[in-house]
Amino acid sequence: MADGRLVVVSNRVPAAGGRVSVGGLVAALRPALEAVGGLWFGWGGSIGPADAIERRREGRVEFVTCALTADEEEGYYEGFCNRTLWPLMHGMPERAELRAGEYERWRAVNARFAALLRPFLEPGDLVWVHDYHLMALGSELRAAGWEGRAGYFHHIPVPEAELWNAIPHHLEIAAGFEAYDLVGLQTQRDVARLEWYAPAAAGRMRAFPIGIDPQGMRALAGQHPADAFEARTGRQVLLGLDRLDYTKGIPDRLTAFERLIRRRPEVAAEALLVQWSAPSREGIADYQAERRLVDDAVGRLRALASPSPVEARHEVLPAELVAAALRDADVCLVTSRADGMNLVAKEFVAAQRPEAPGVLVLTDGCGAAEELTDALIVPSGDIEALAEAIERALEMPVEERRQRWRSLAATVEAGNVQEWCRGFLATLAGGEAPEVSEP
Ligand code: G6P
Repeated sequence: MADGRLVVVSNRVPAAGGRVSVGGLVAALRPALEAVGGLWFGWGGSIGPADAIERRREGRVEFVTCALTADEEEGYYEGFCNRTLWPLMHGMPERAELRAGEYERWRAVNARFAALLRPFLEPGDLVWVHDYHLMALGSELRAAGWEGRAGYFHHIPVPEAELWNAIPHHLEIAAGFEAYDLVGLQTQRDVARLEWYAPAAAGRMRAFPIGIDPQGMRALAGQHPADAFEARTGRQVLLGLDRLDYTKGIPDRLTAFERLIRRRPEVAAEALLVQWSAPSREGIADYQAERRLVDDAVGRLRALASPSPVEARHEVLPAELVAAALRDADVCLVTSRADGMNLVAKEFVAAQRPEAPGVLVLTDGCGAAEELTDALIVPSGDIEALAEAIERALEMPVEERRQRWRSLAATVEAGNVQEWCRGFLATLAGGEAPEVSEP
C-alpha cells in the first residue's frame, strides 16, 4: 500500500459511533482507514443548504459530510440514482424513468462533491470512490486538478451495453471511467460487460468480489443465543432477509413456496417461511408497489394453512437478531432477479453451524452465484425451478448439506471483506498489476 492516507468517498457515510446503513463495507474500510489514517467523505443523510459541512474525528479517521439540498435529494438521489441508474444497472429498463434535468443534477452533485473534497486531499493520498451515485466523481476530481491515484468500485451489476445507451449523455459516463486508475467490479461477467461498454478504460478494470466479516458475523449471532424464530413450532425455517427492493425477487420466493404448498399441503406443517424486509426508498412509486406485491403474496400464503406457513415483517431489526436468524435458519432464500453480489448469501454461510448446516438457495442473477457454486442455484425469475429447489432443500440429507456447506464456507472465509479491501487498495496503489484483458 502507498504511504499516503486513504480517502473513501461514498454517497452514504457511517453515522457517529459506527452505527451504519452501509453494511459490511464499514467493517472493512474502518480498519483500513484506521491503519493508514484517512478521511471518509460523503452525504451525511440530511437535507440542508449546499454549504453545510460537518467534520468529526474518530481515532485516525476524519469524517467529512455535507447535506443535500431538497432539489438535489429529488433530482440526484431519488431521481437519476434510484429511478434511472438503479433499474438500468439491474437490467430493468421498463422501470427506468428519466425526468428532465435529473442527469444534469446528478452531474452537478458529483462536481460539487469533488469541489468540496479537493481541498482536503494531500499528495500521496489514495482516493477510493464507491458506487453508482458517484461514478462521475473521478472525472470531476481530475477537472478540479487532482492528479493522485483514484479508484472506483461499482457495487451493483453492470448491464448490457444497450441499457447504458438508453441514457442521454451516456458517452460522458463511459468516458468518466478513464479518470480512474482502477475500476473494481463484483464479477467477471461485470468486467466483460463494462469492457464492452467502455473499451477505452478496459485496461483498468478488474473483478474484486466483495466479502463479509465471517468472525464478526458469528460474534454478533452469539449475542442472541436463543432461537431467533419464536414462531418456528418445530418446523424448518426458510429465511428471506432483504432490503425491500424490487430487484430482490421477494414475491418470487413467496409464490414458489405457495406453489409447493398447493402441490403438497403437508409442507405447510413442516416448514415456515420467515420474510424480514427492511423498508427502503419509500418515496419511490415502484418501491411502494413492491411492498403491495409482497403483502399480497404473504396474504395468499397465510390463507393456505393454520398455523400460518409465513411470518413477514417490514422493519429494521436489531443486528444481533438478524445474525442469529442467519445462524438458526434451515434454508436461506436469496432469489434476486439481479444483484451486484448479495452479502446475505455469504452471511448465511458464515453464521451456520458446521455440524448441521442449512441450505443456500441462490438465483443466478446474484453476483454471489459466480463464487458460491455449491448452493442450489436456480435461474432468476423461474418460479417452478425455485419451488423445486425449496422442496429439495427441505429434504436434503445432512451429509449433503455438510458437504455443500464446507465448500461454500471455504470460499466465504478466504474471500472475506478484509481481503477484498486489501486486494483493491494494493492494486490501486500500484503494488500489483491488474490482471486485465486487452480491449
Ligand atoms: C445498495 C447500494 C448501496 C446503497 C444501499 C442502500 O446496496 O449498492 O450503495 O447504499 O443499496 O440503499 P440507499 O438508497 O438506502 O443508500
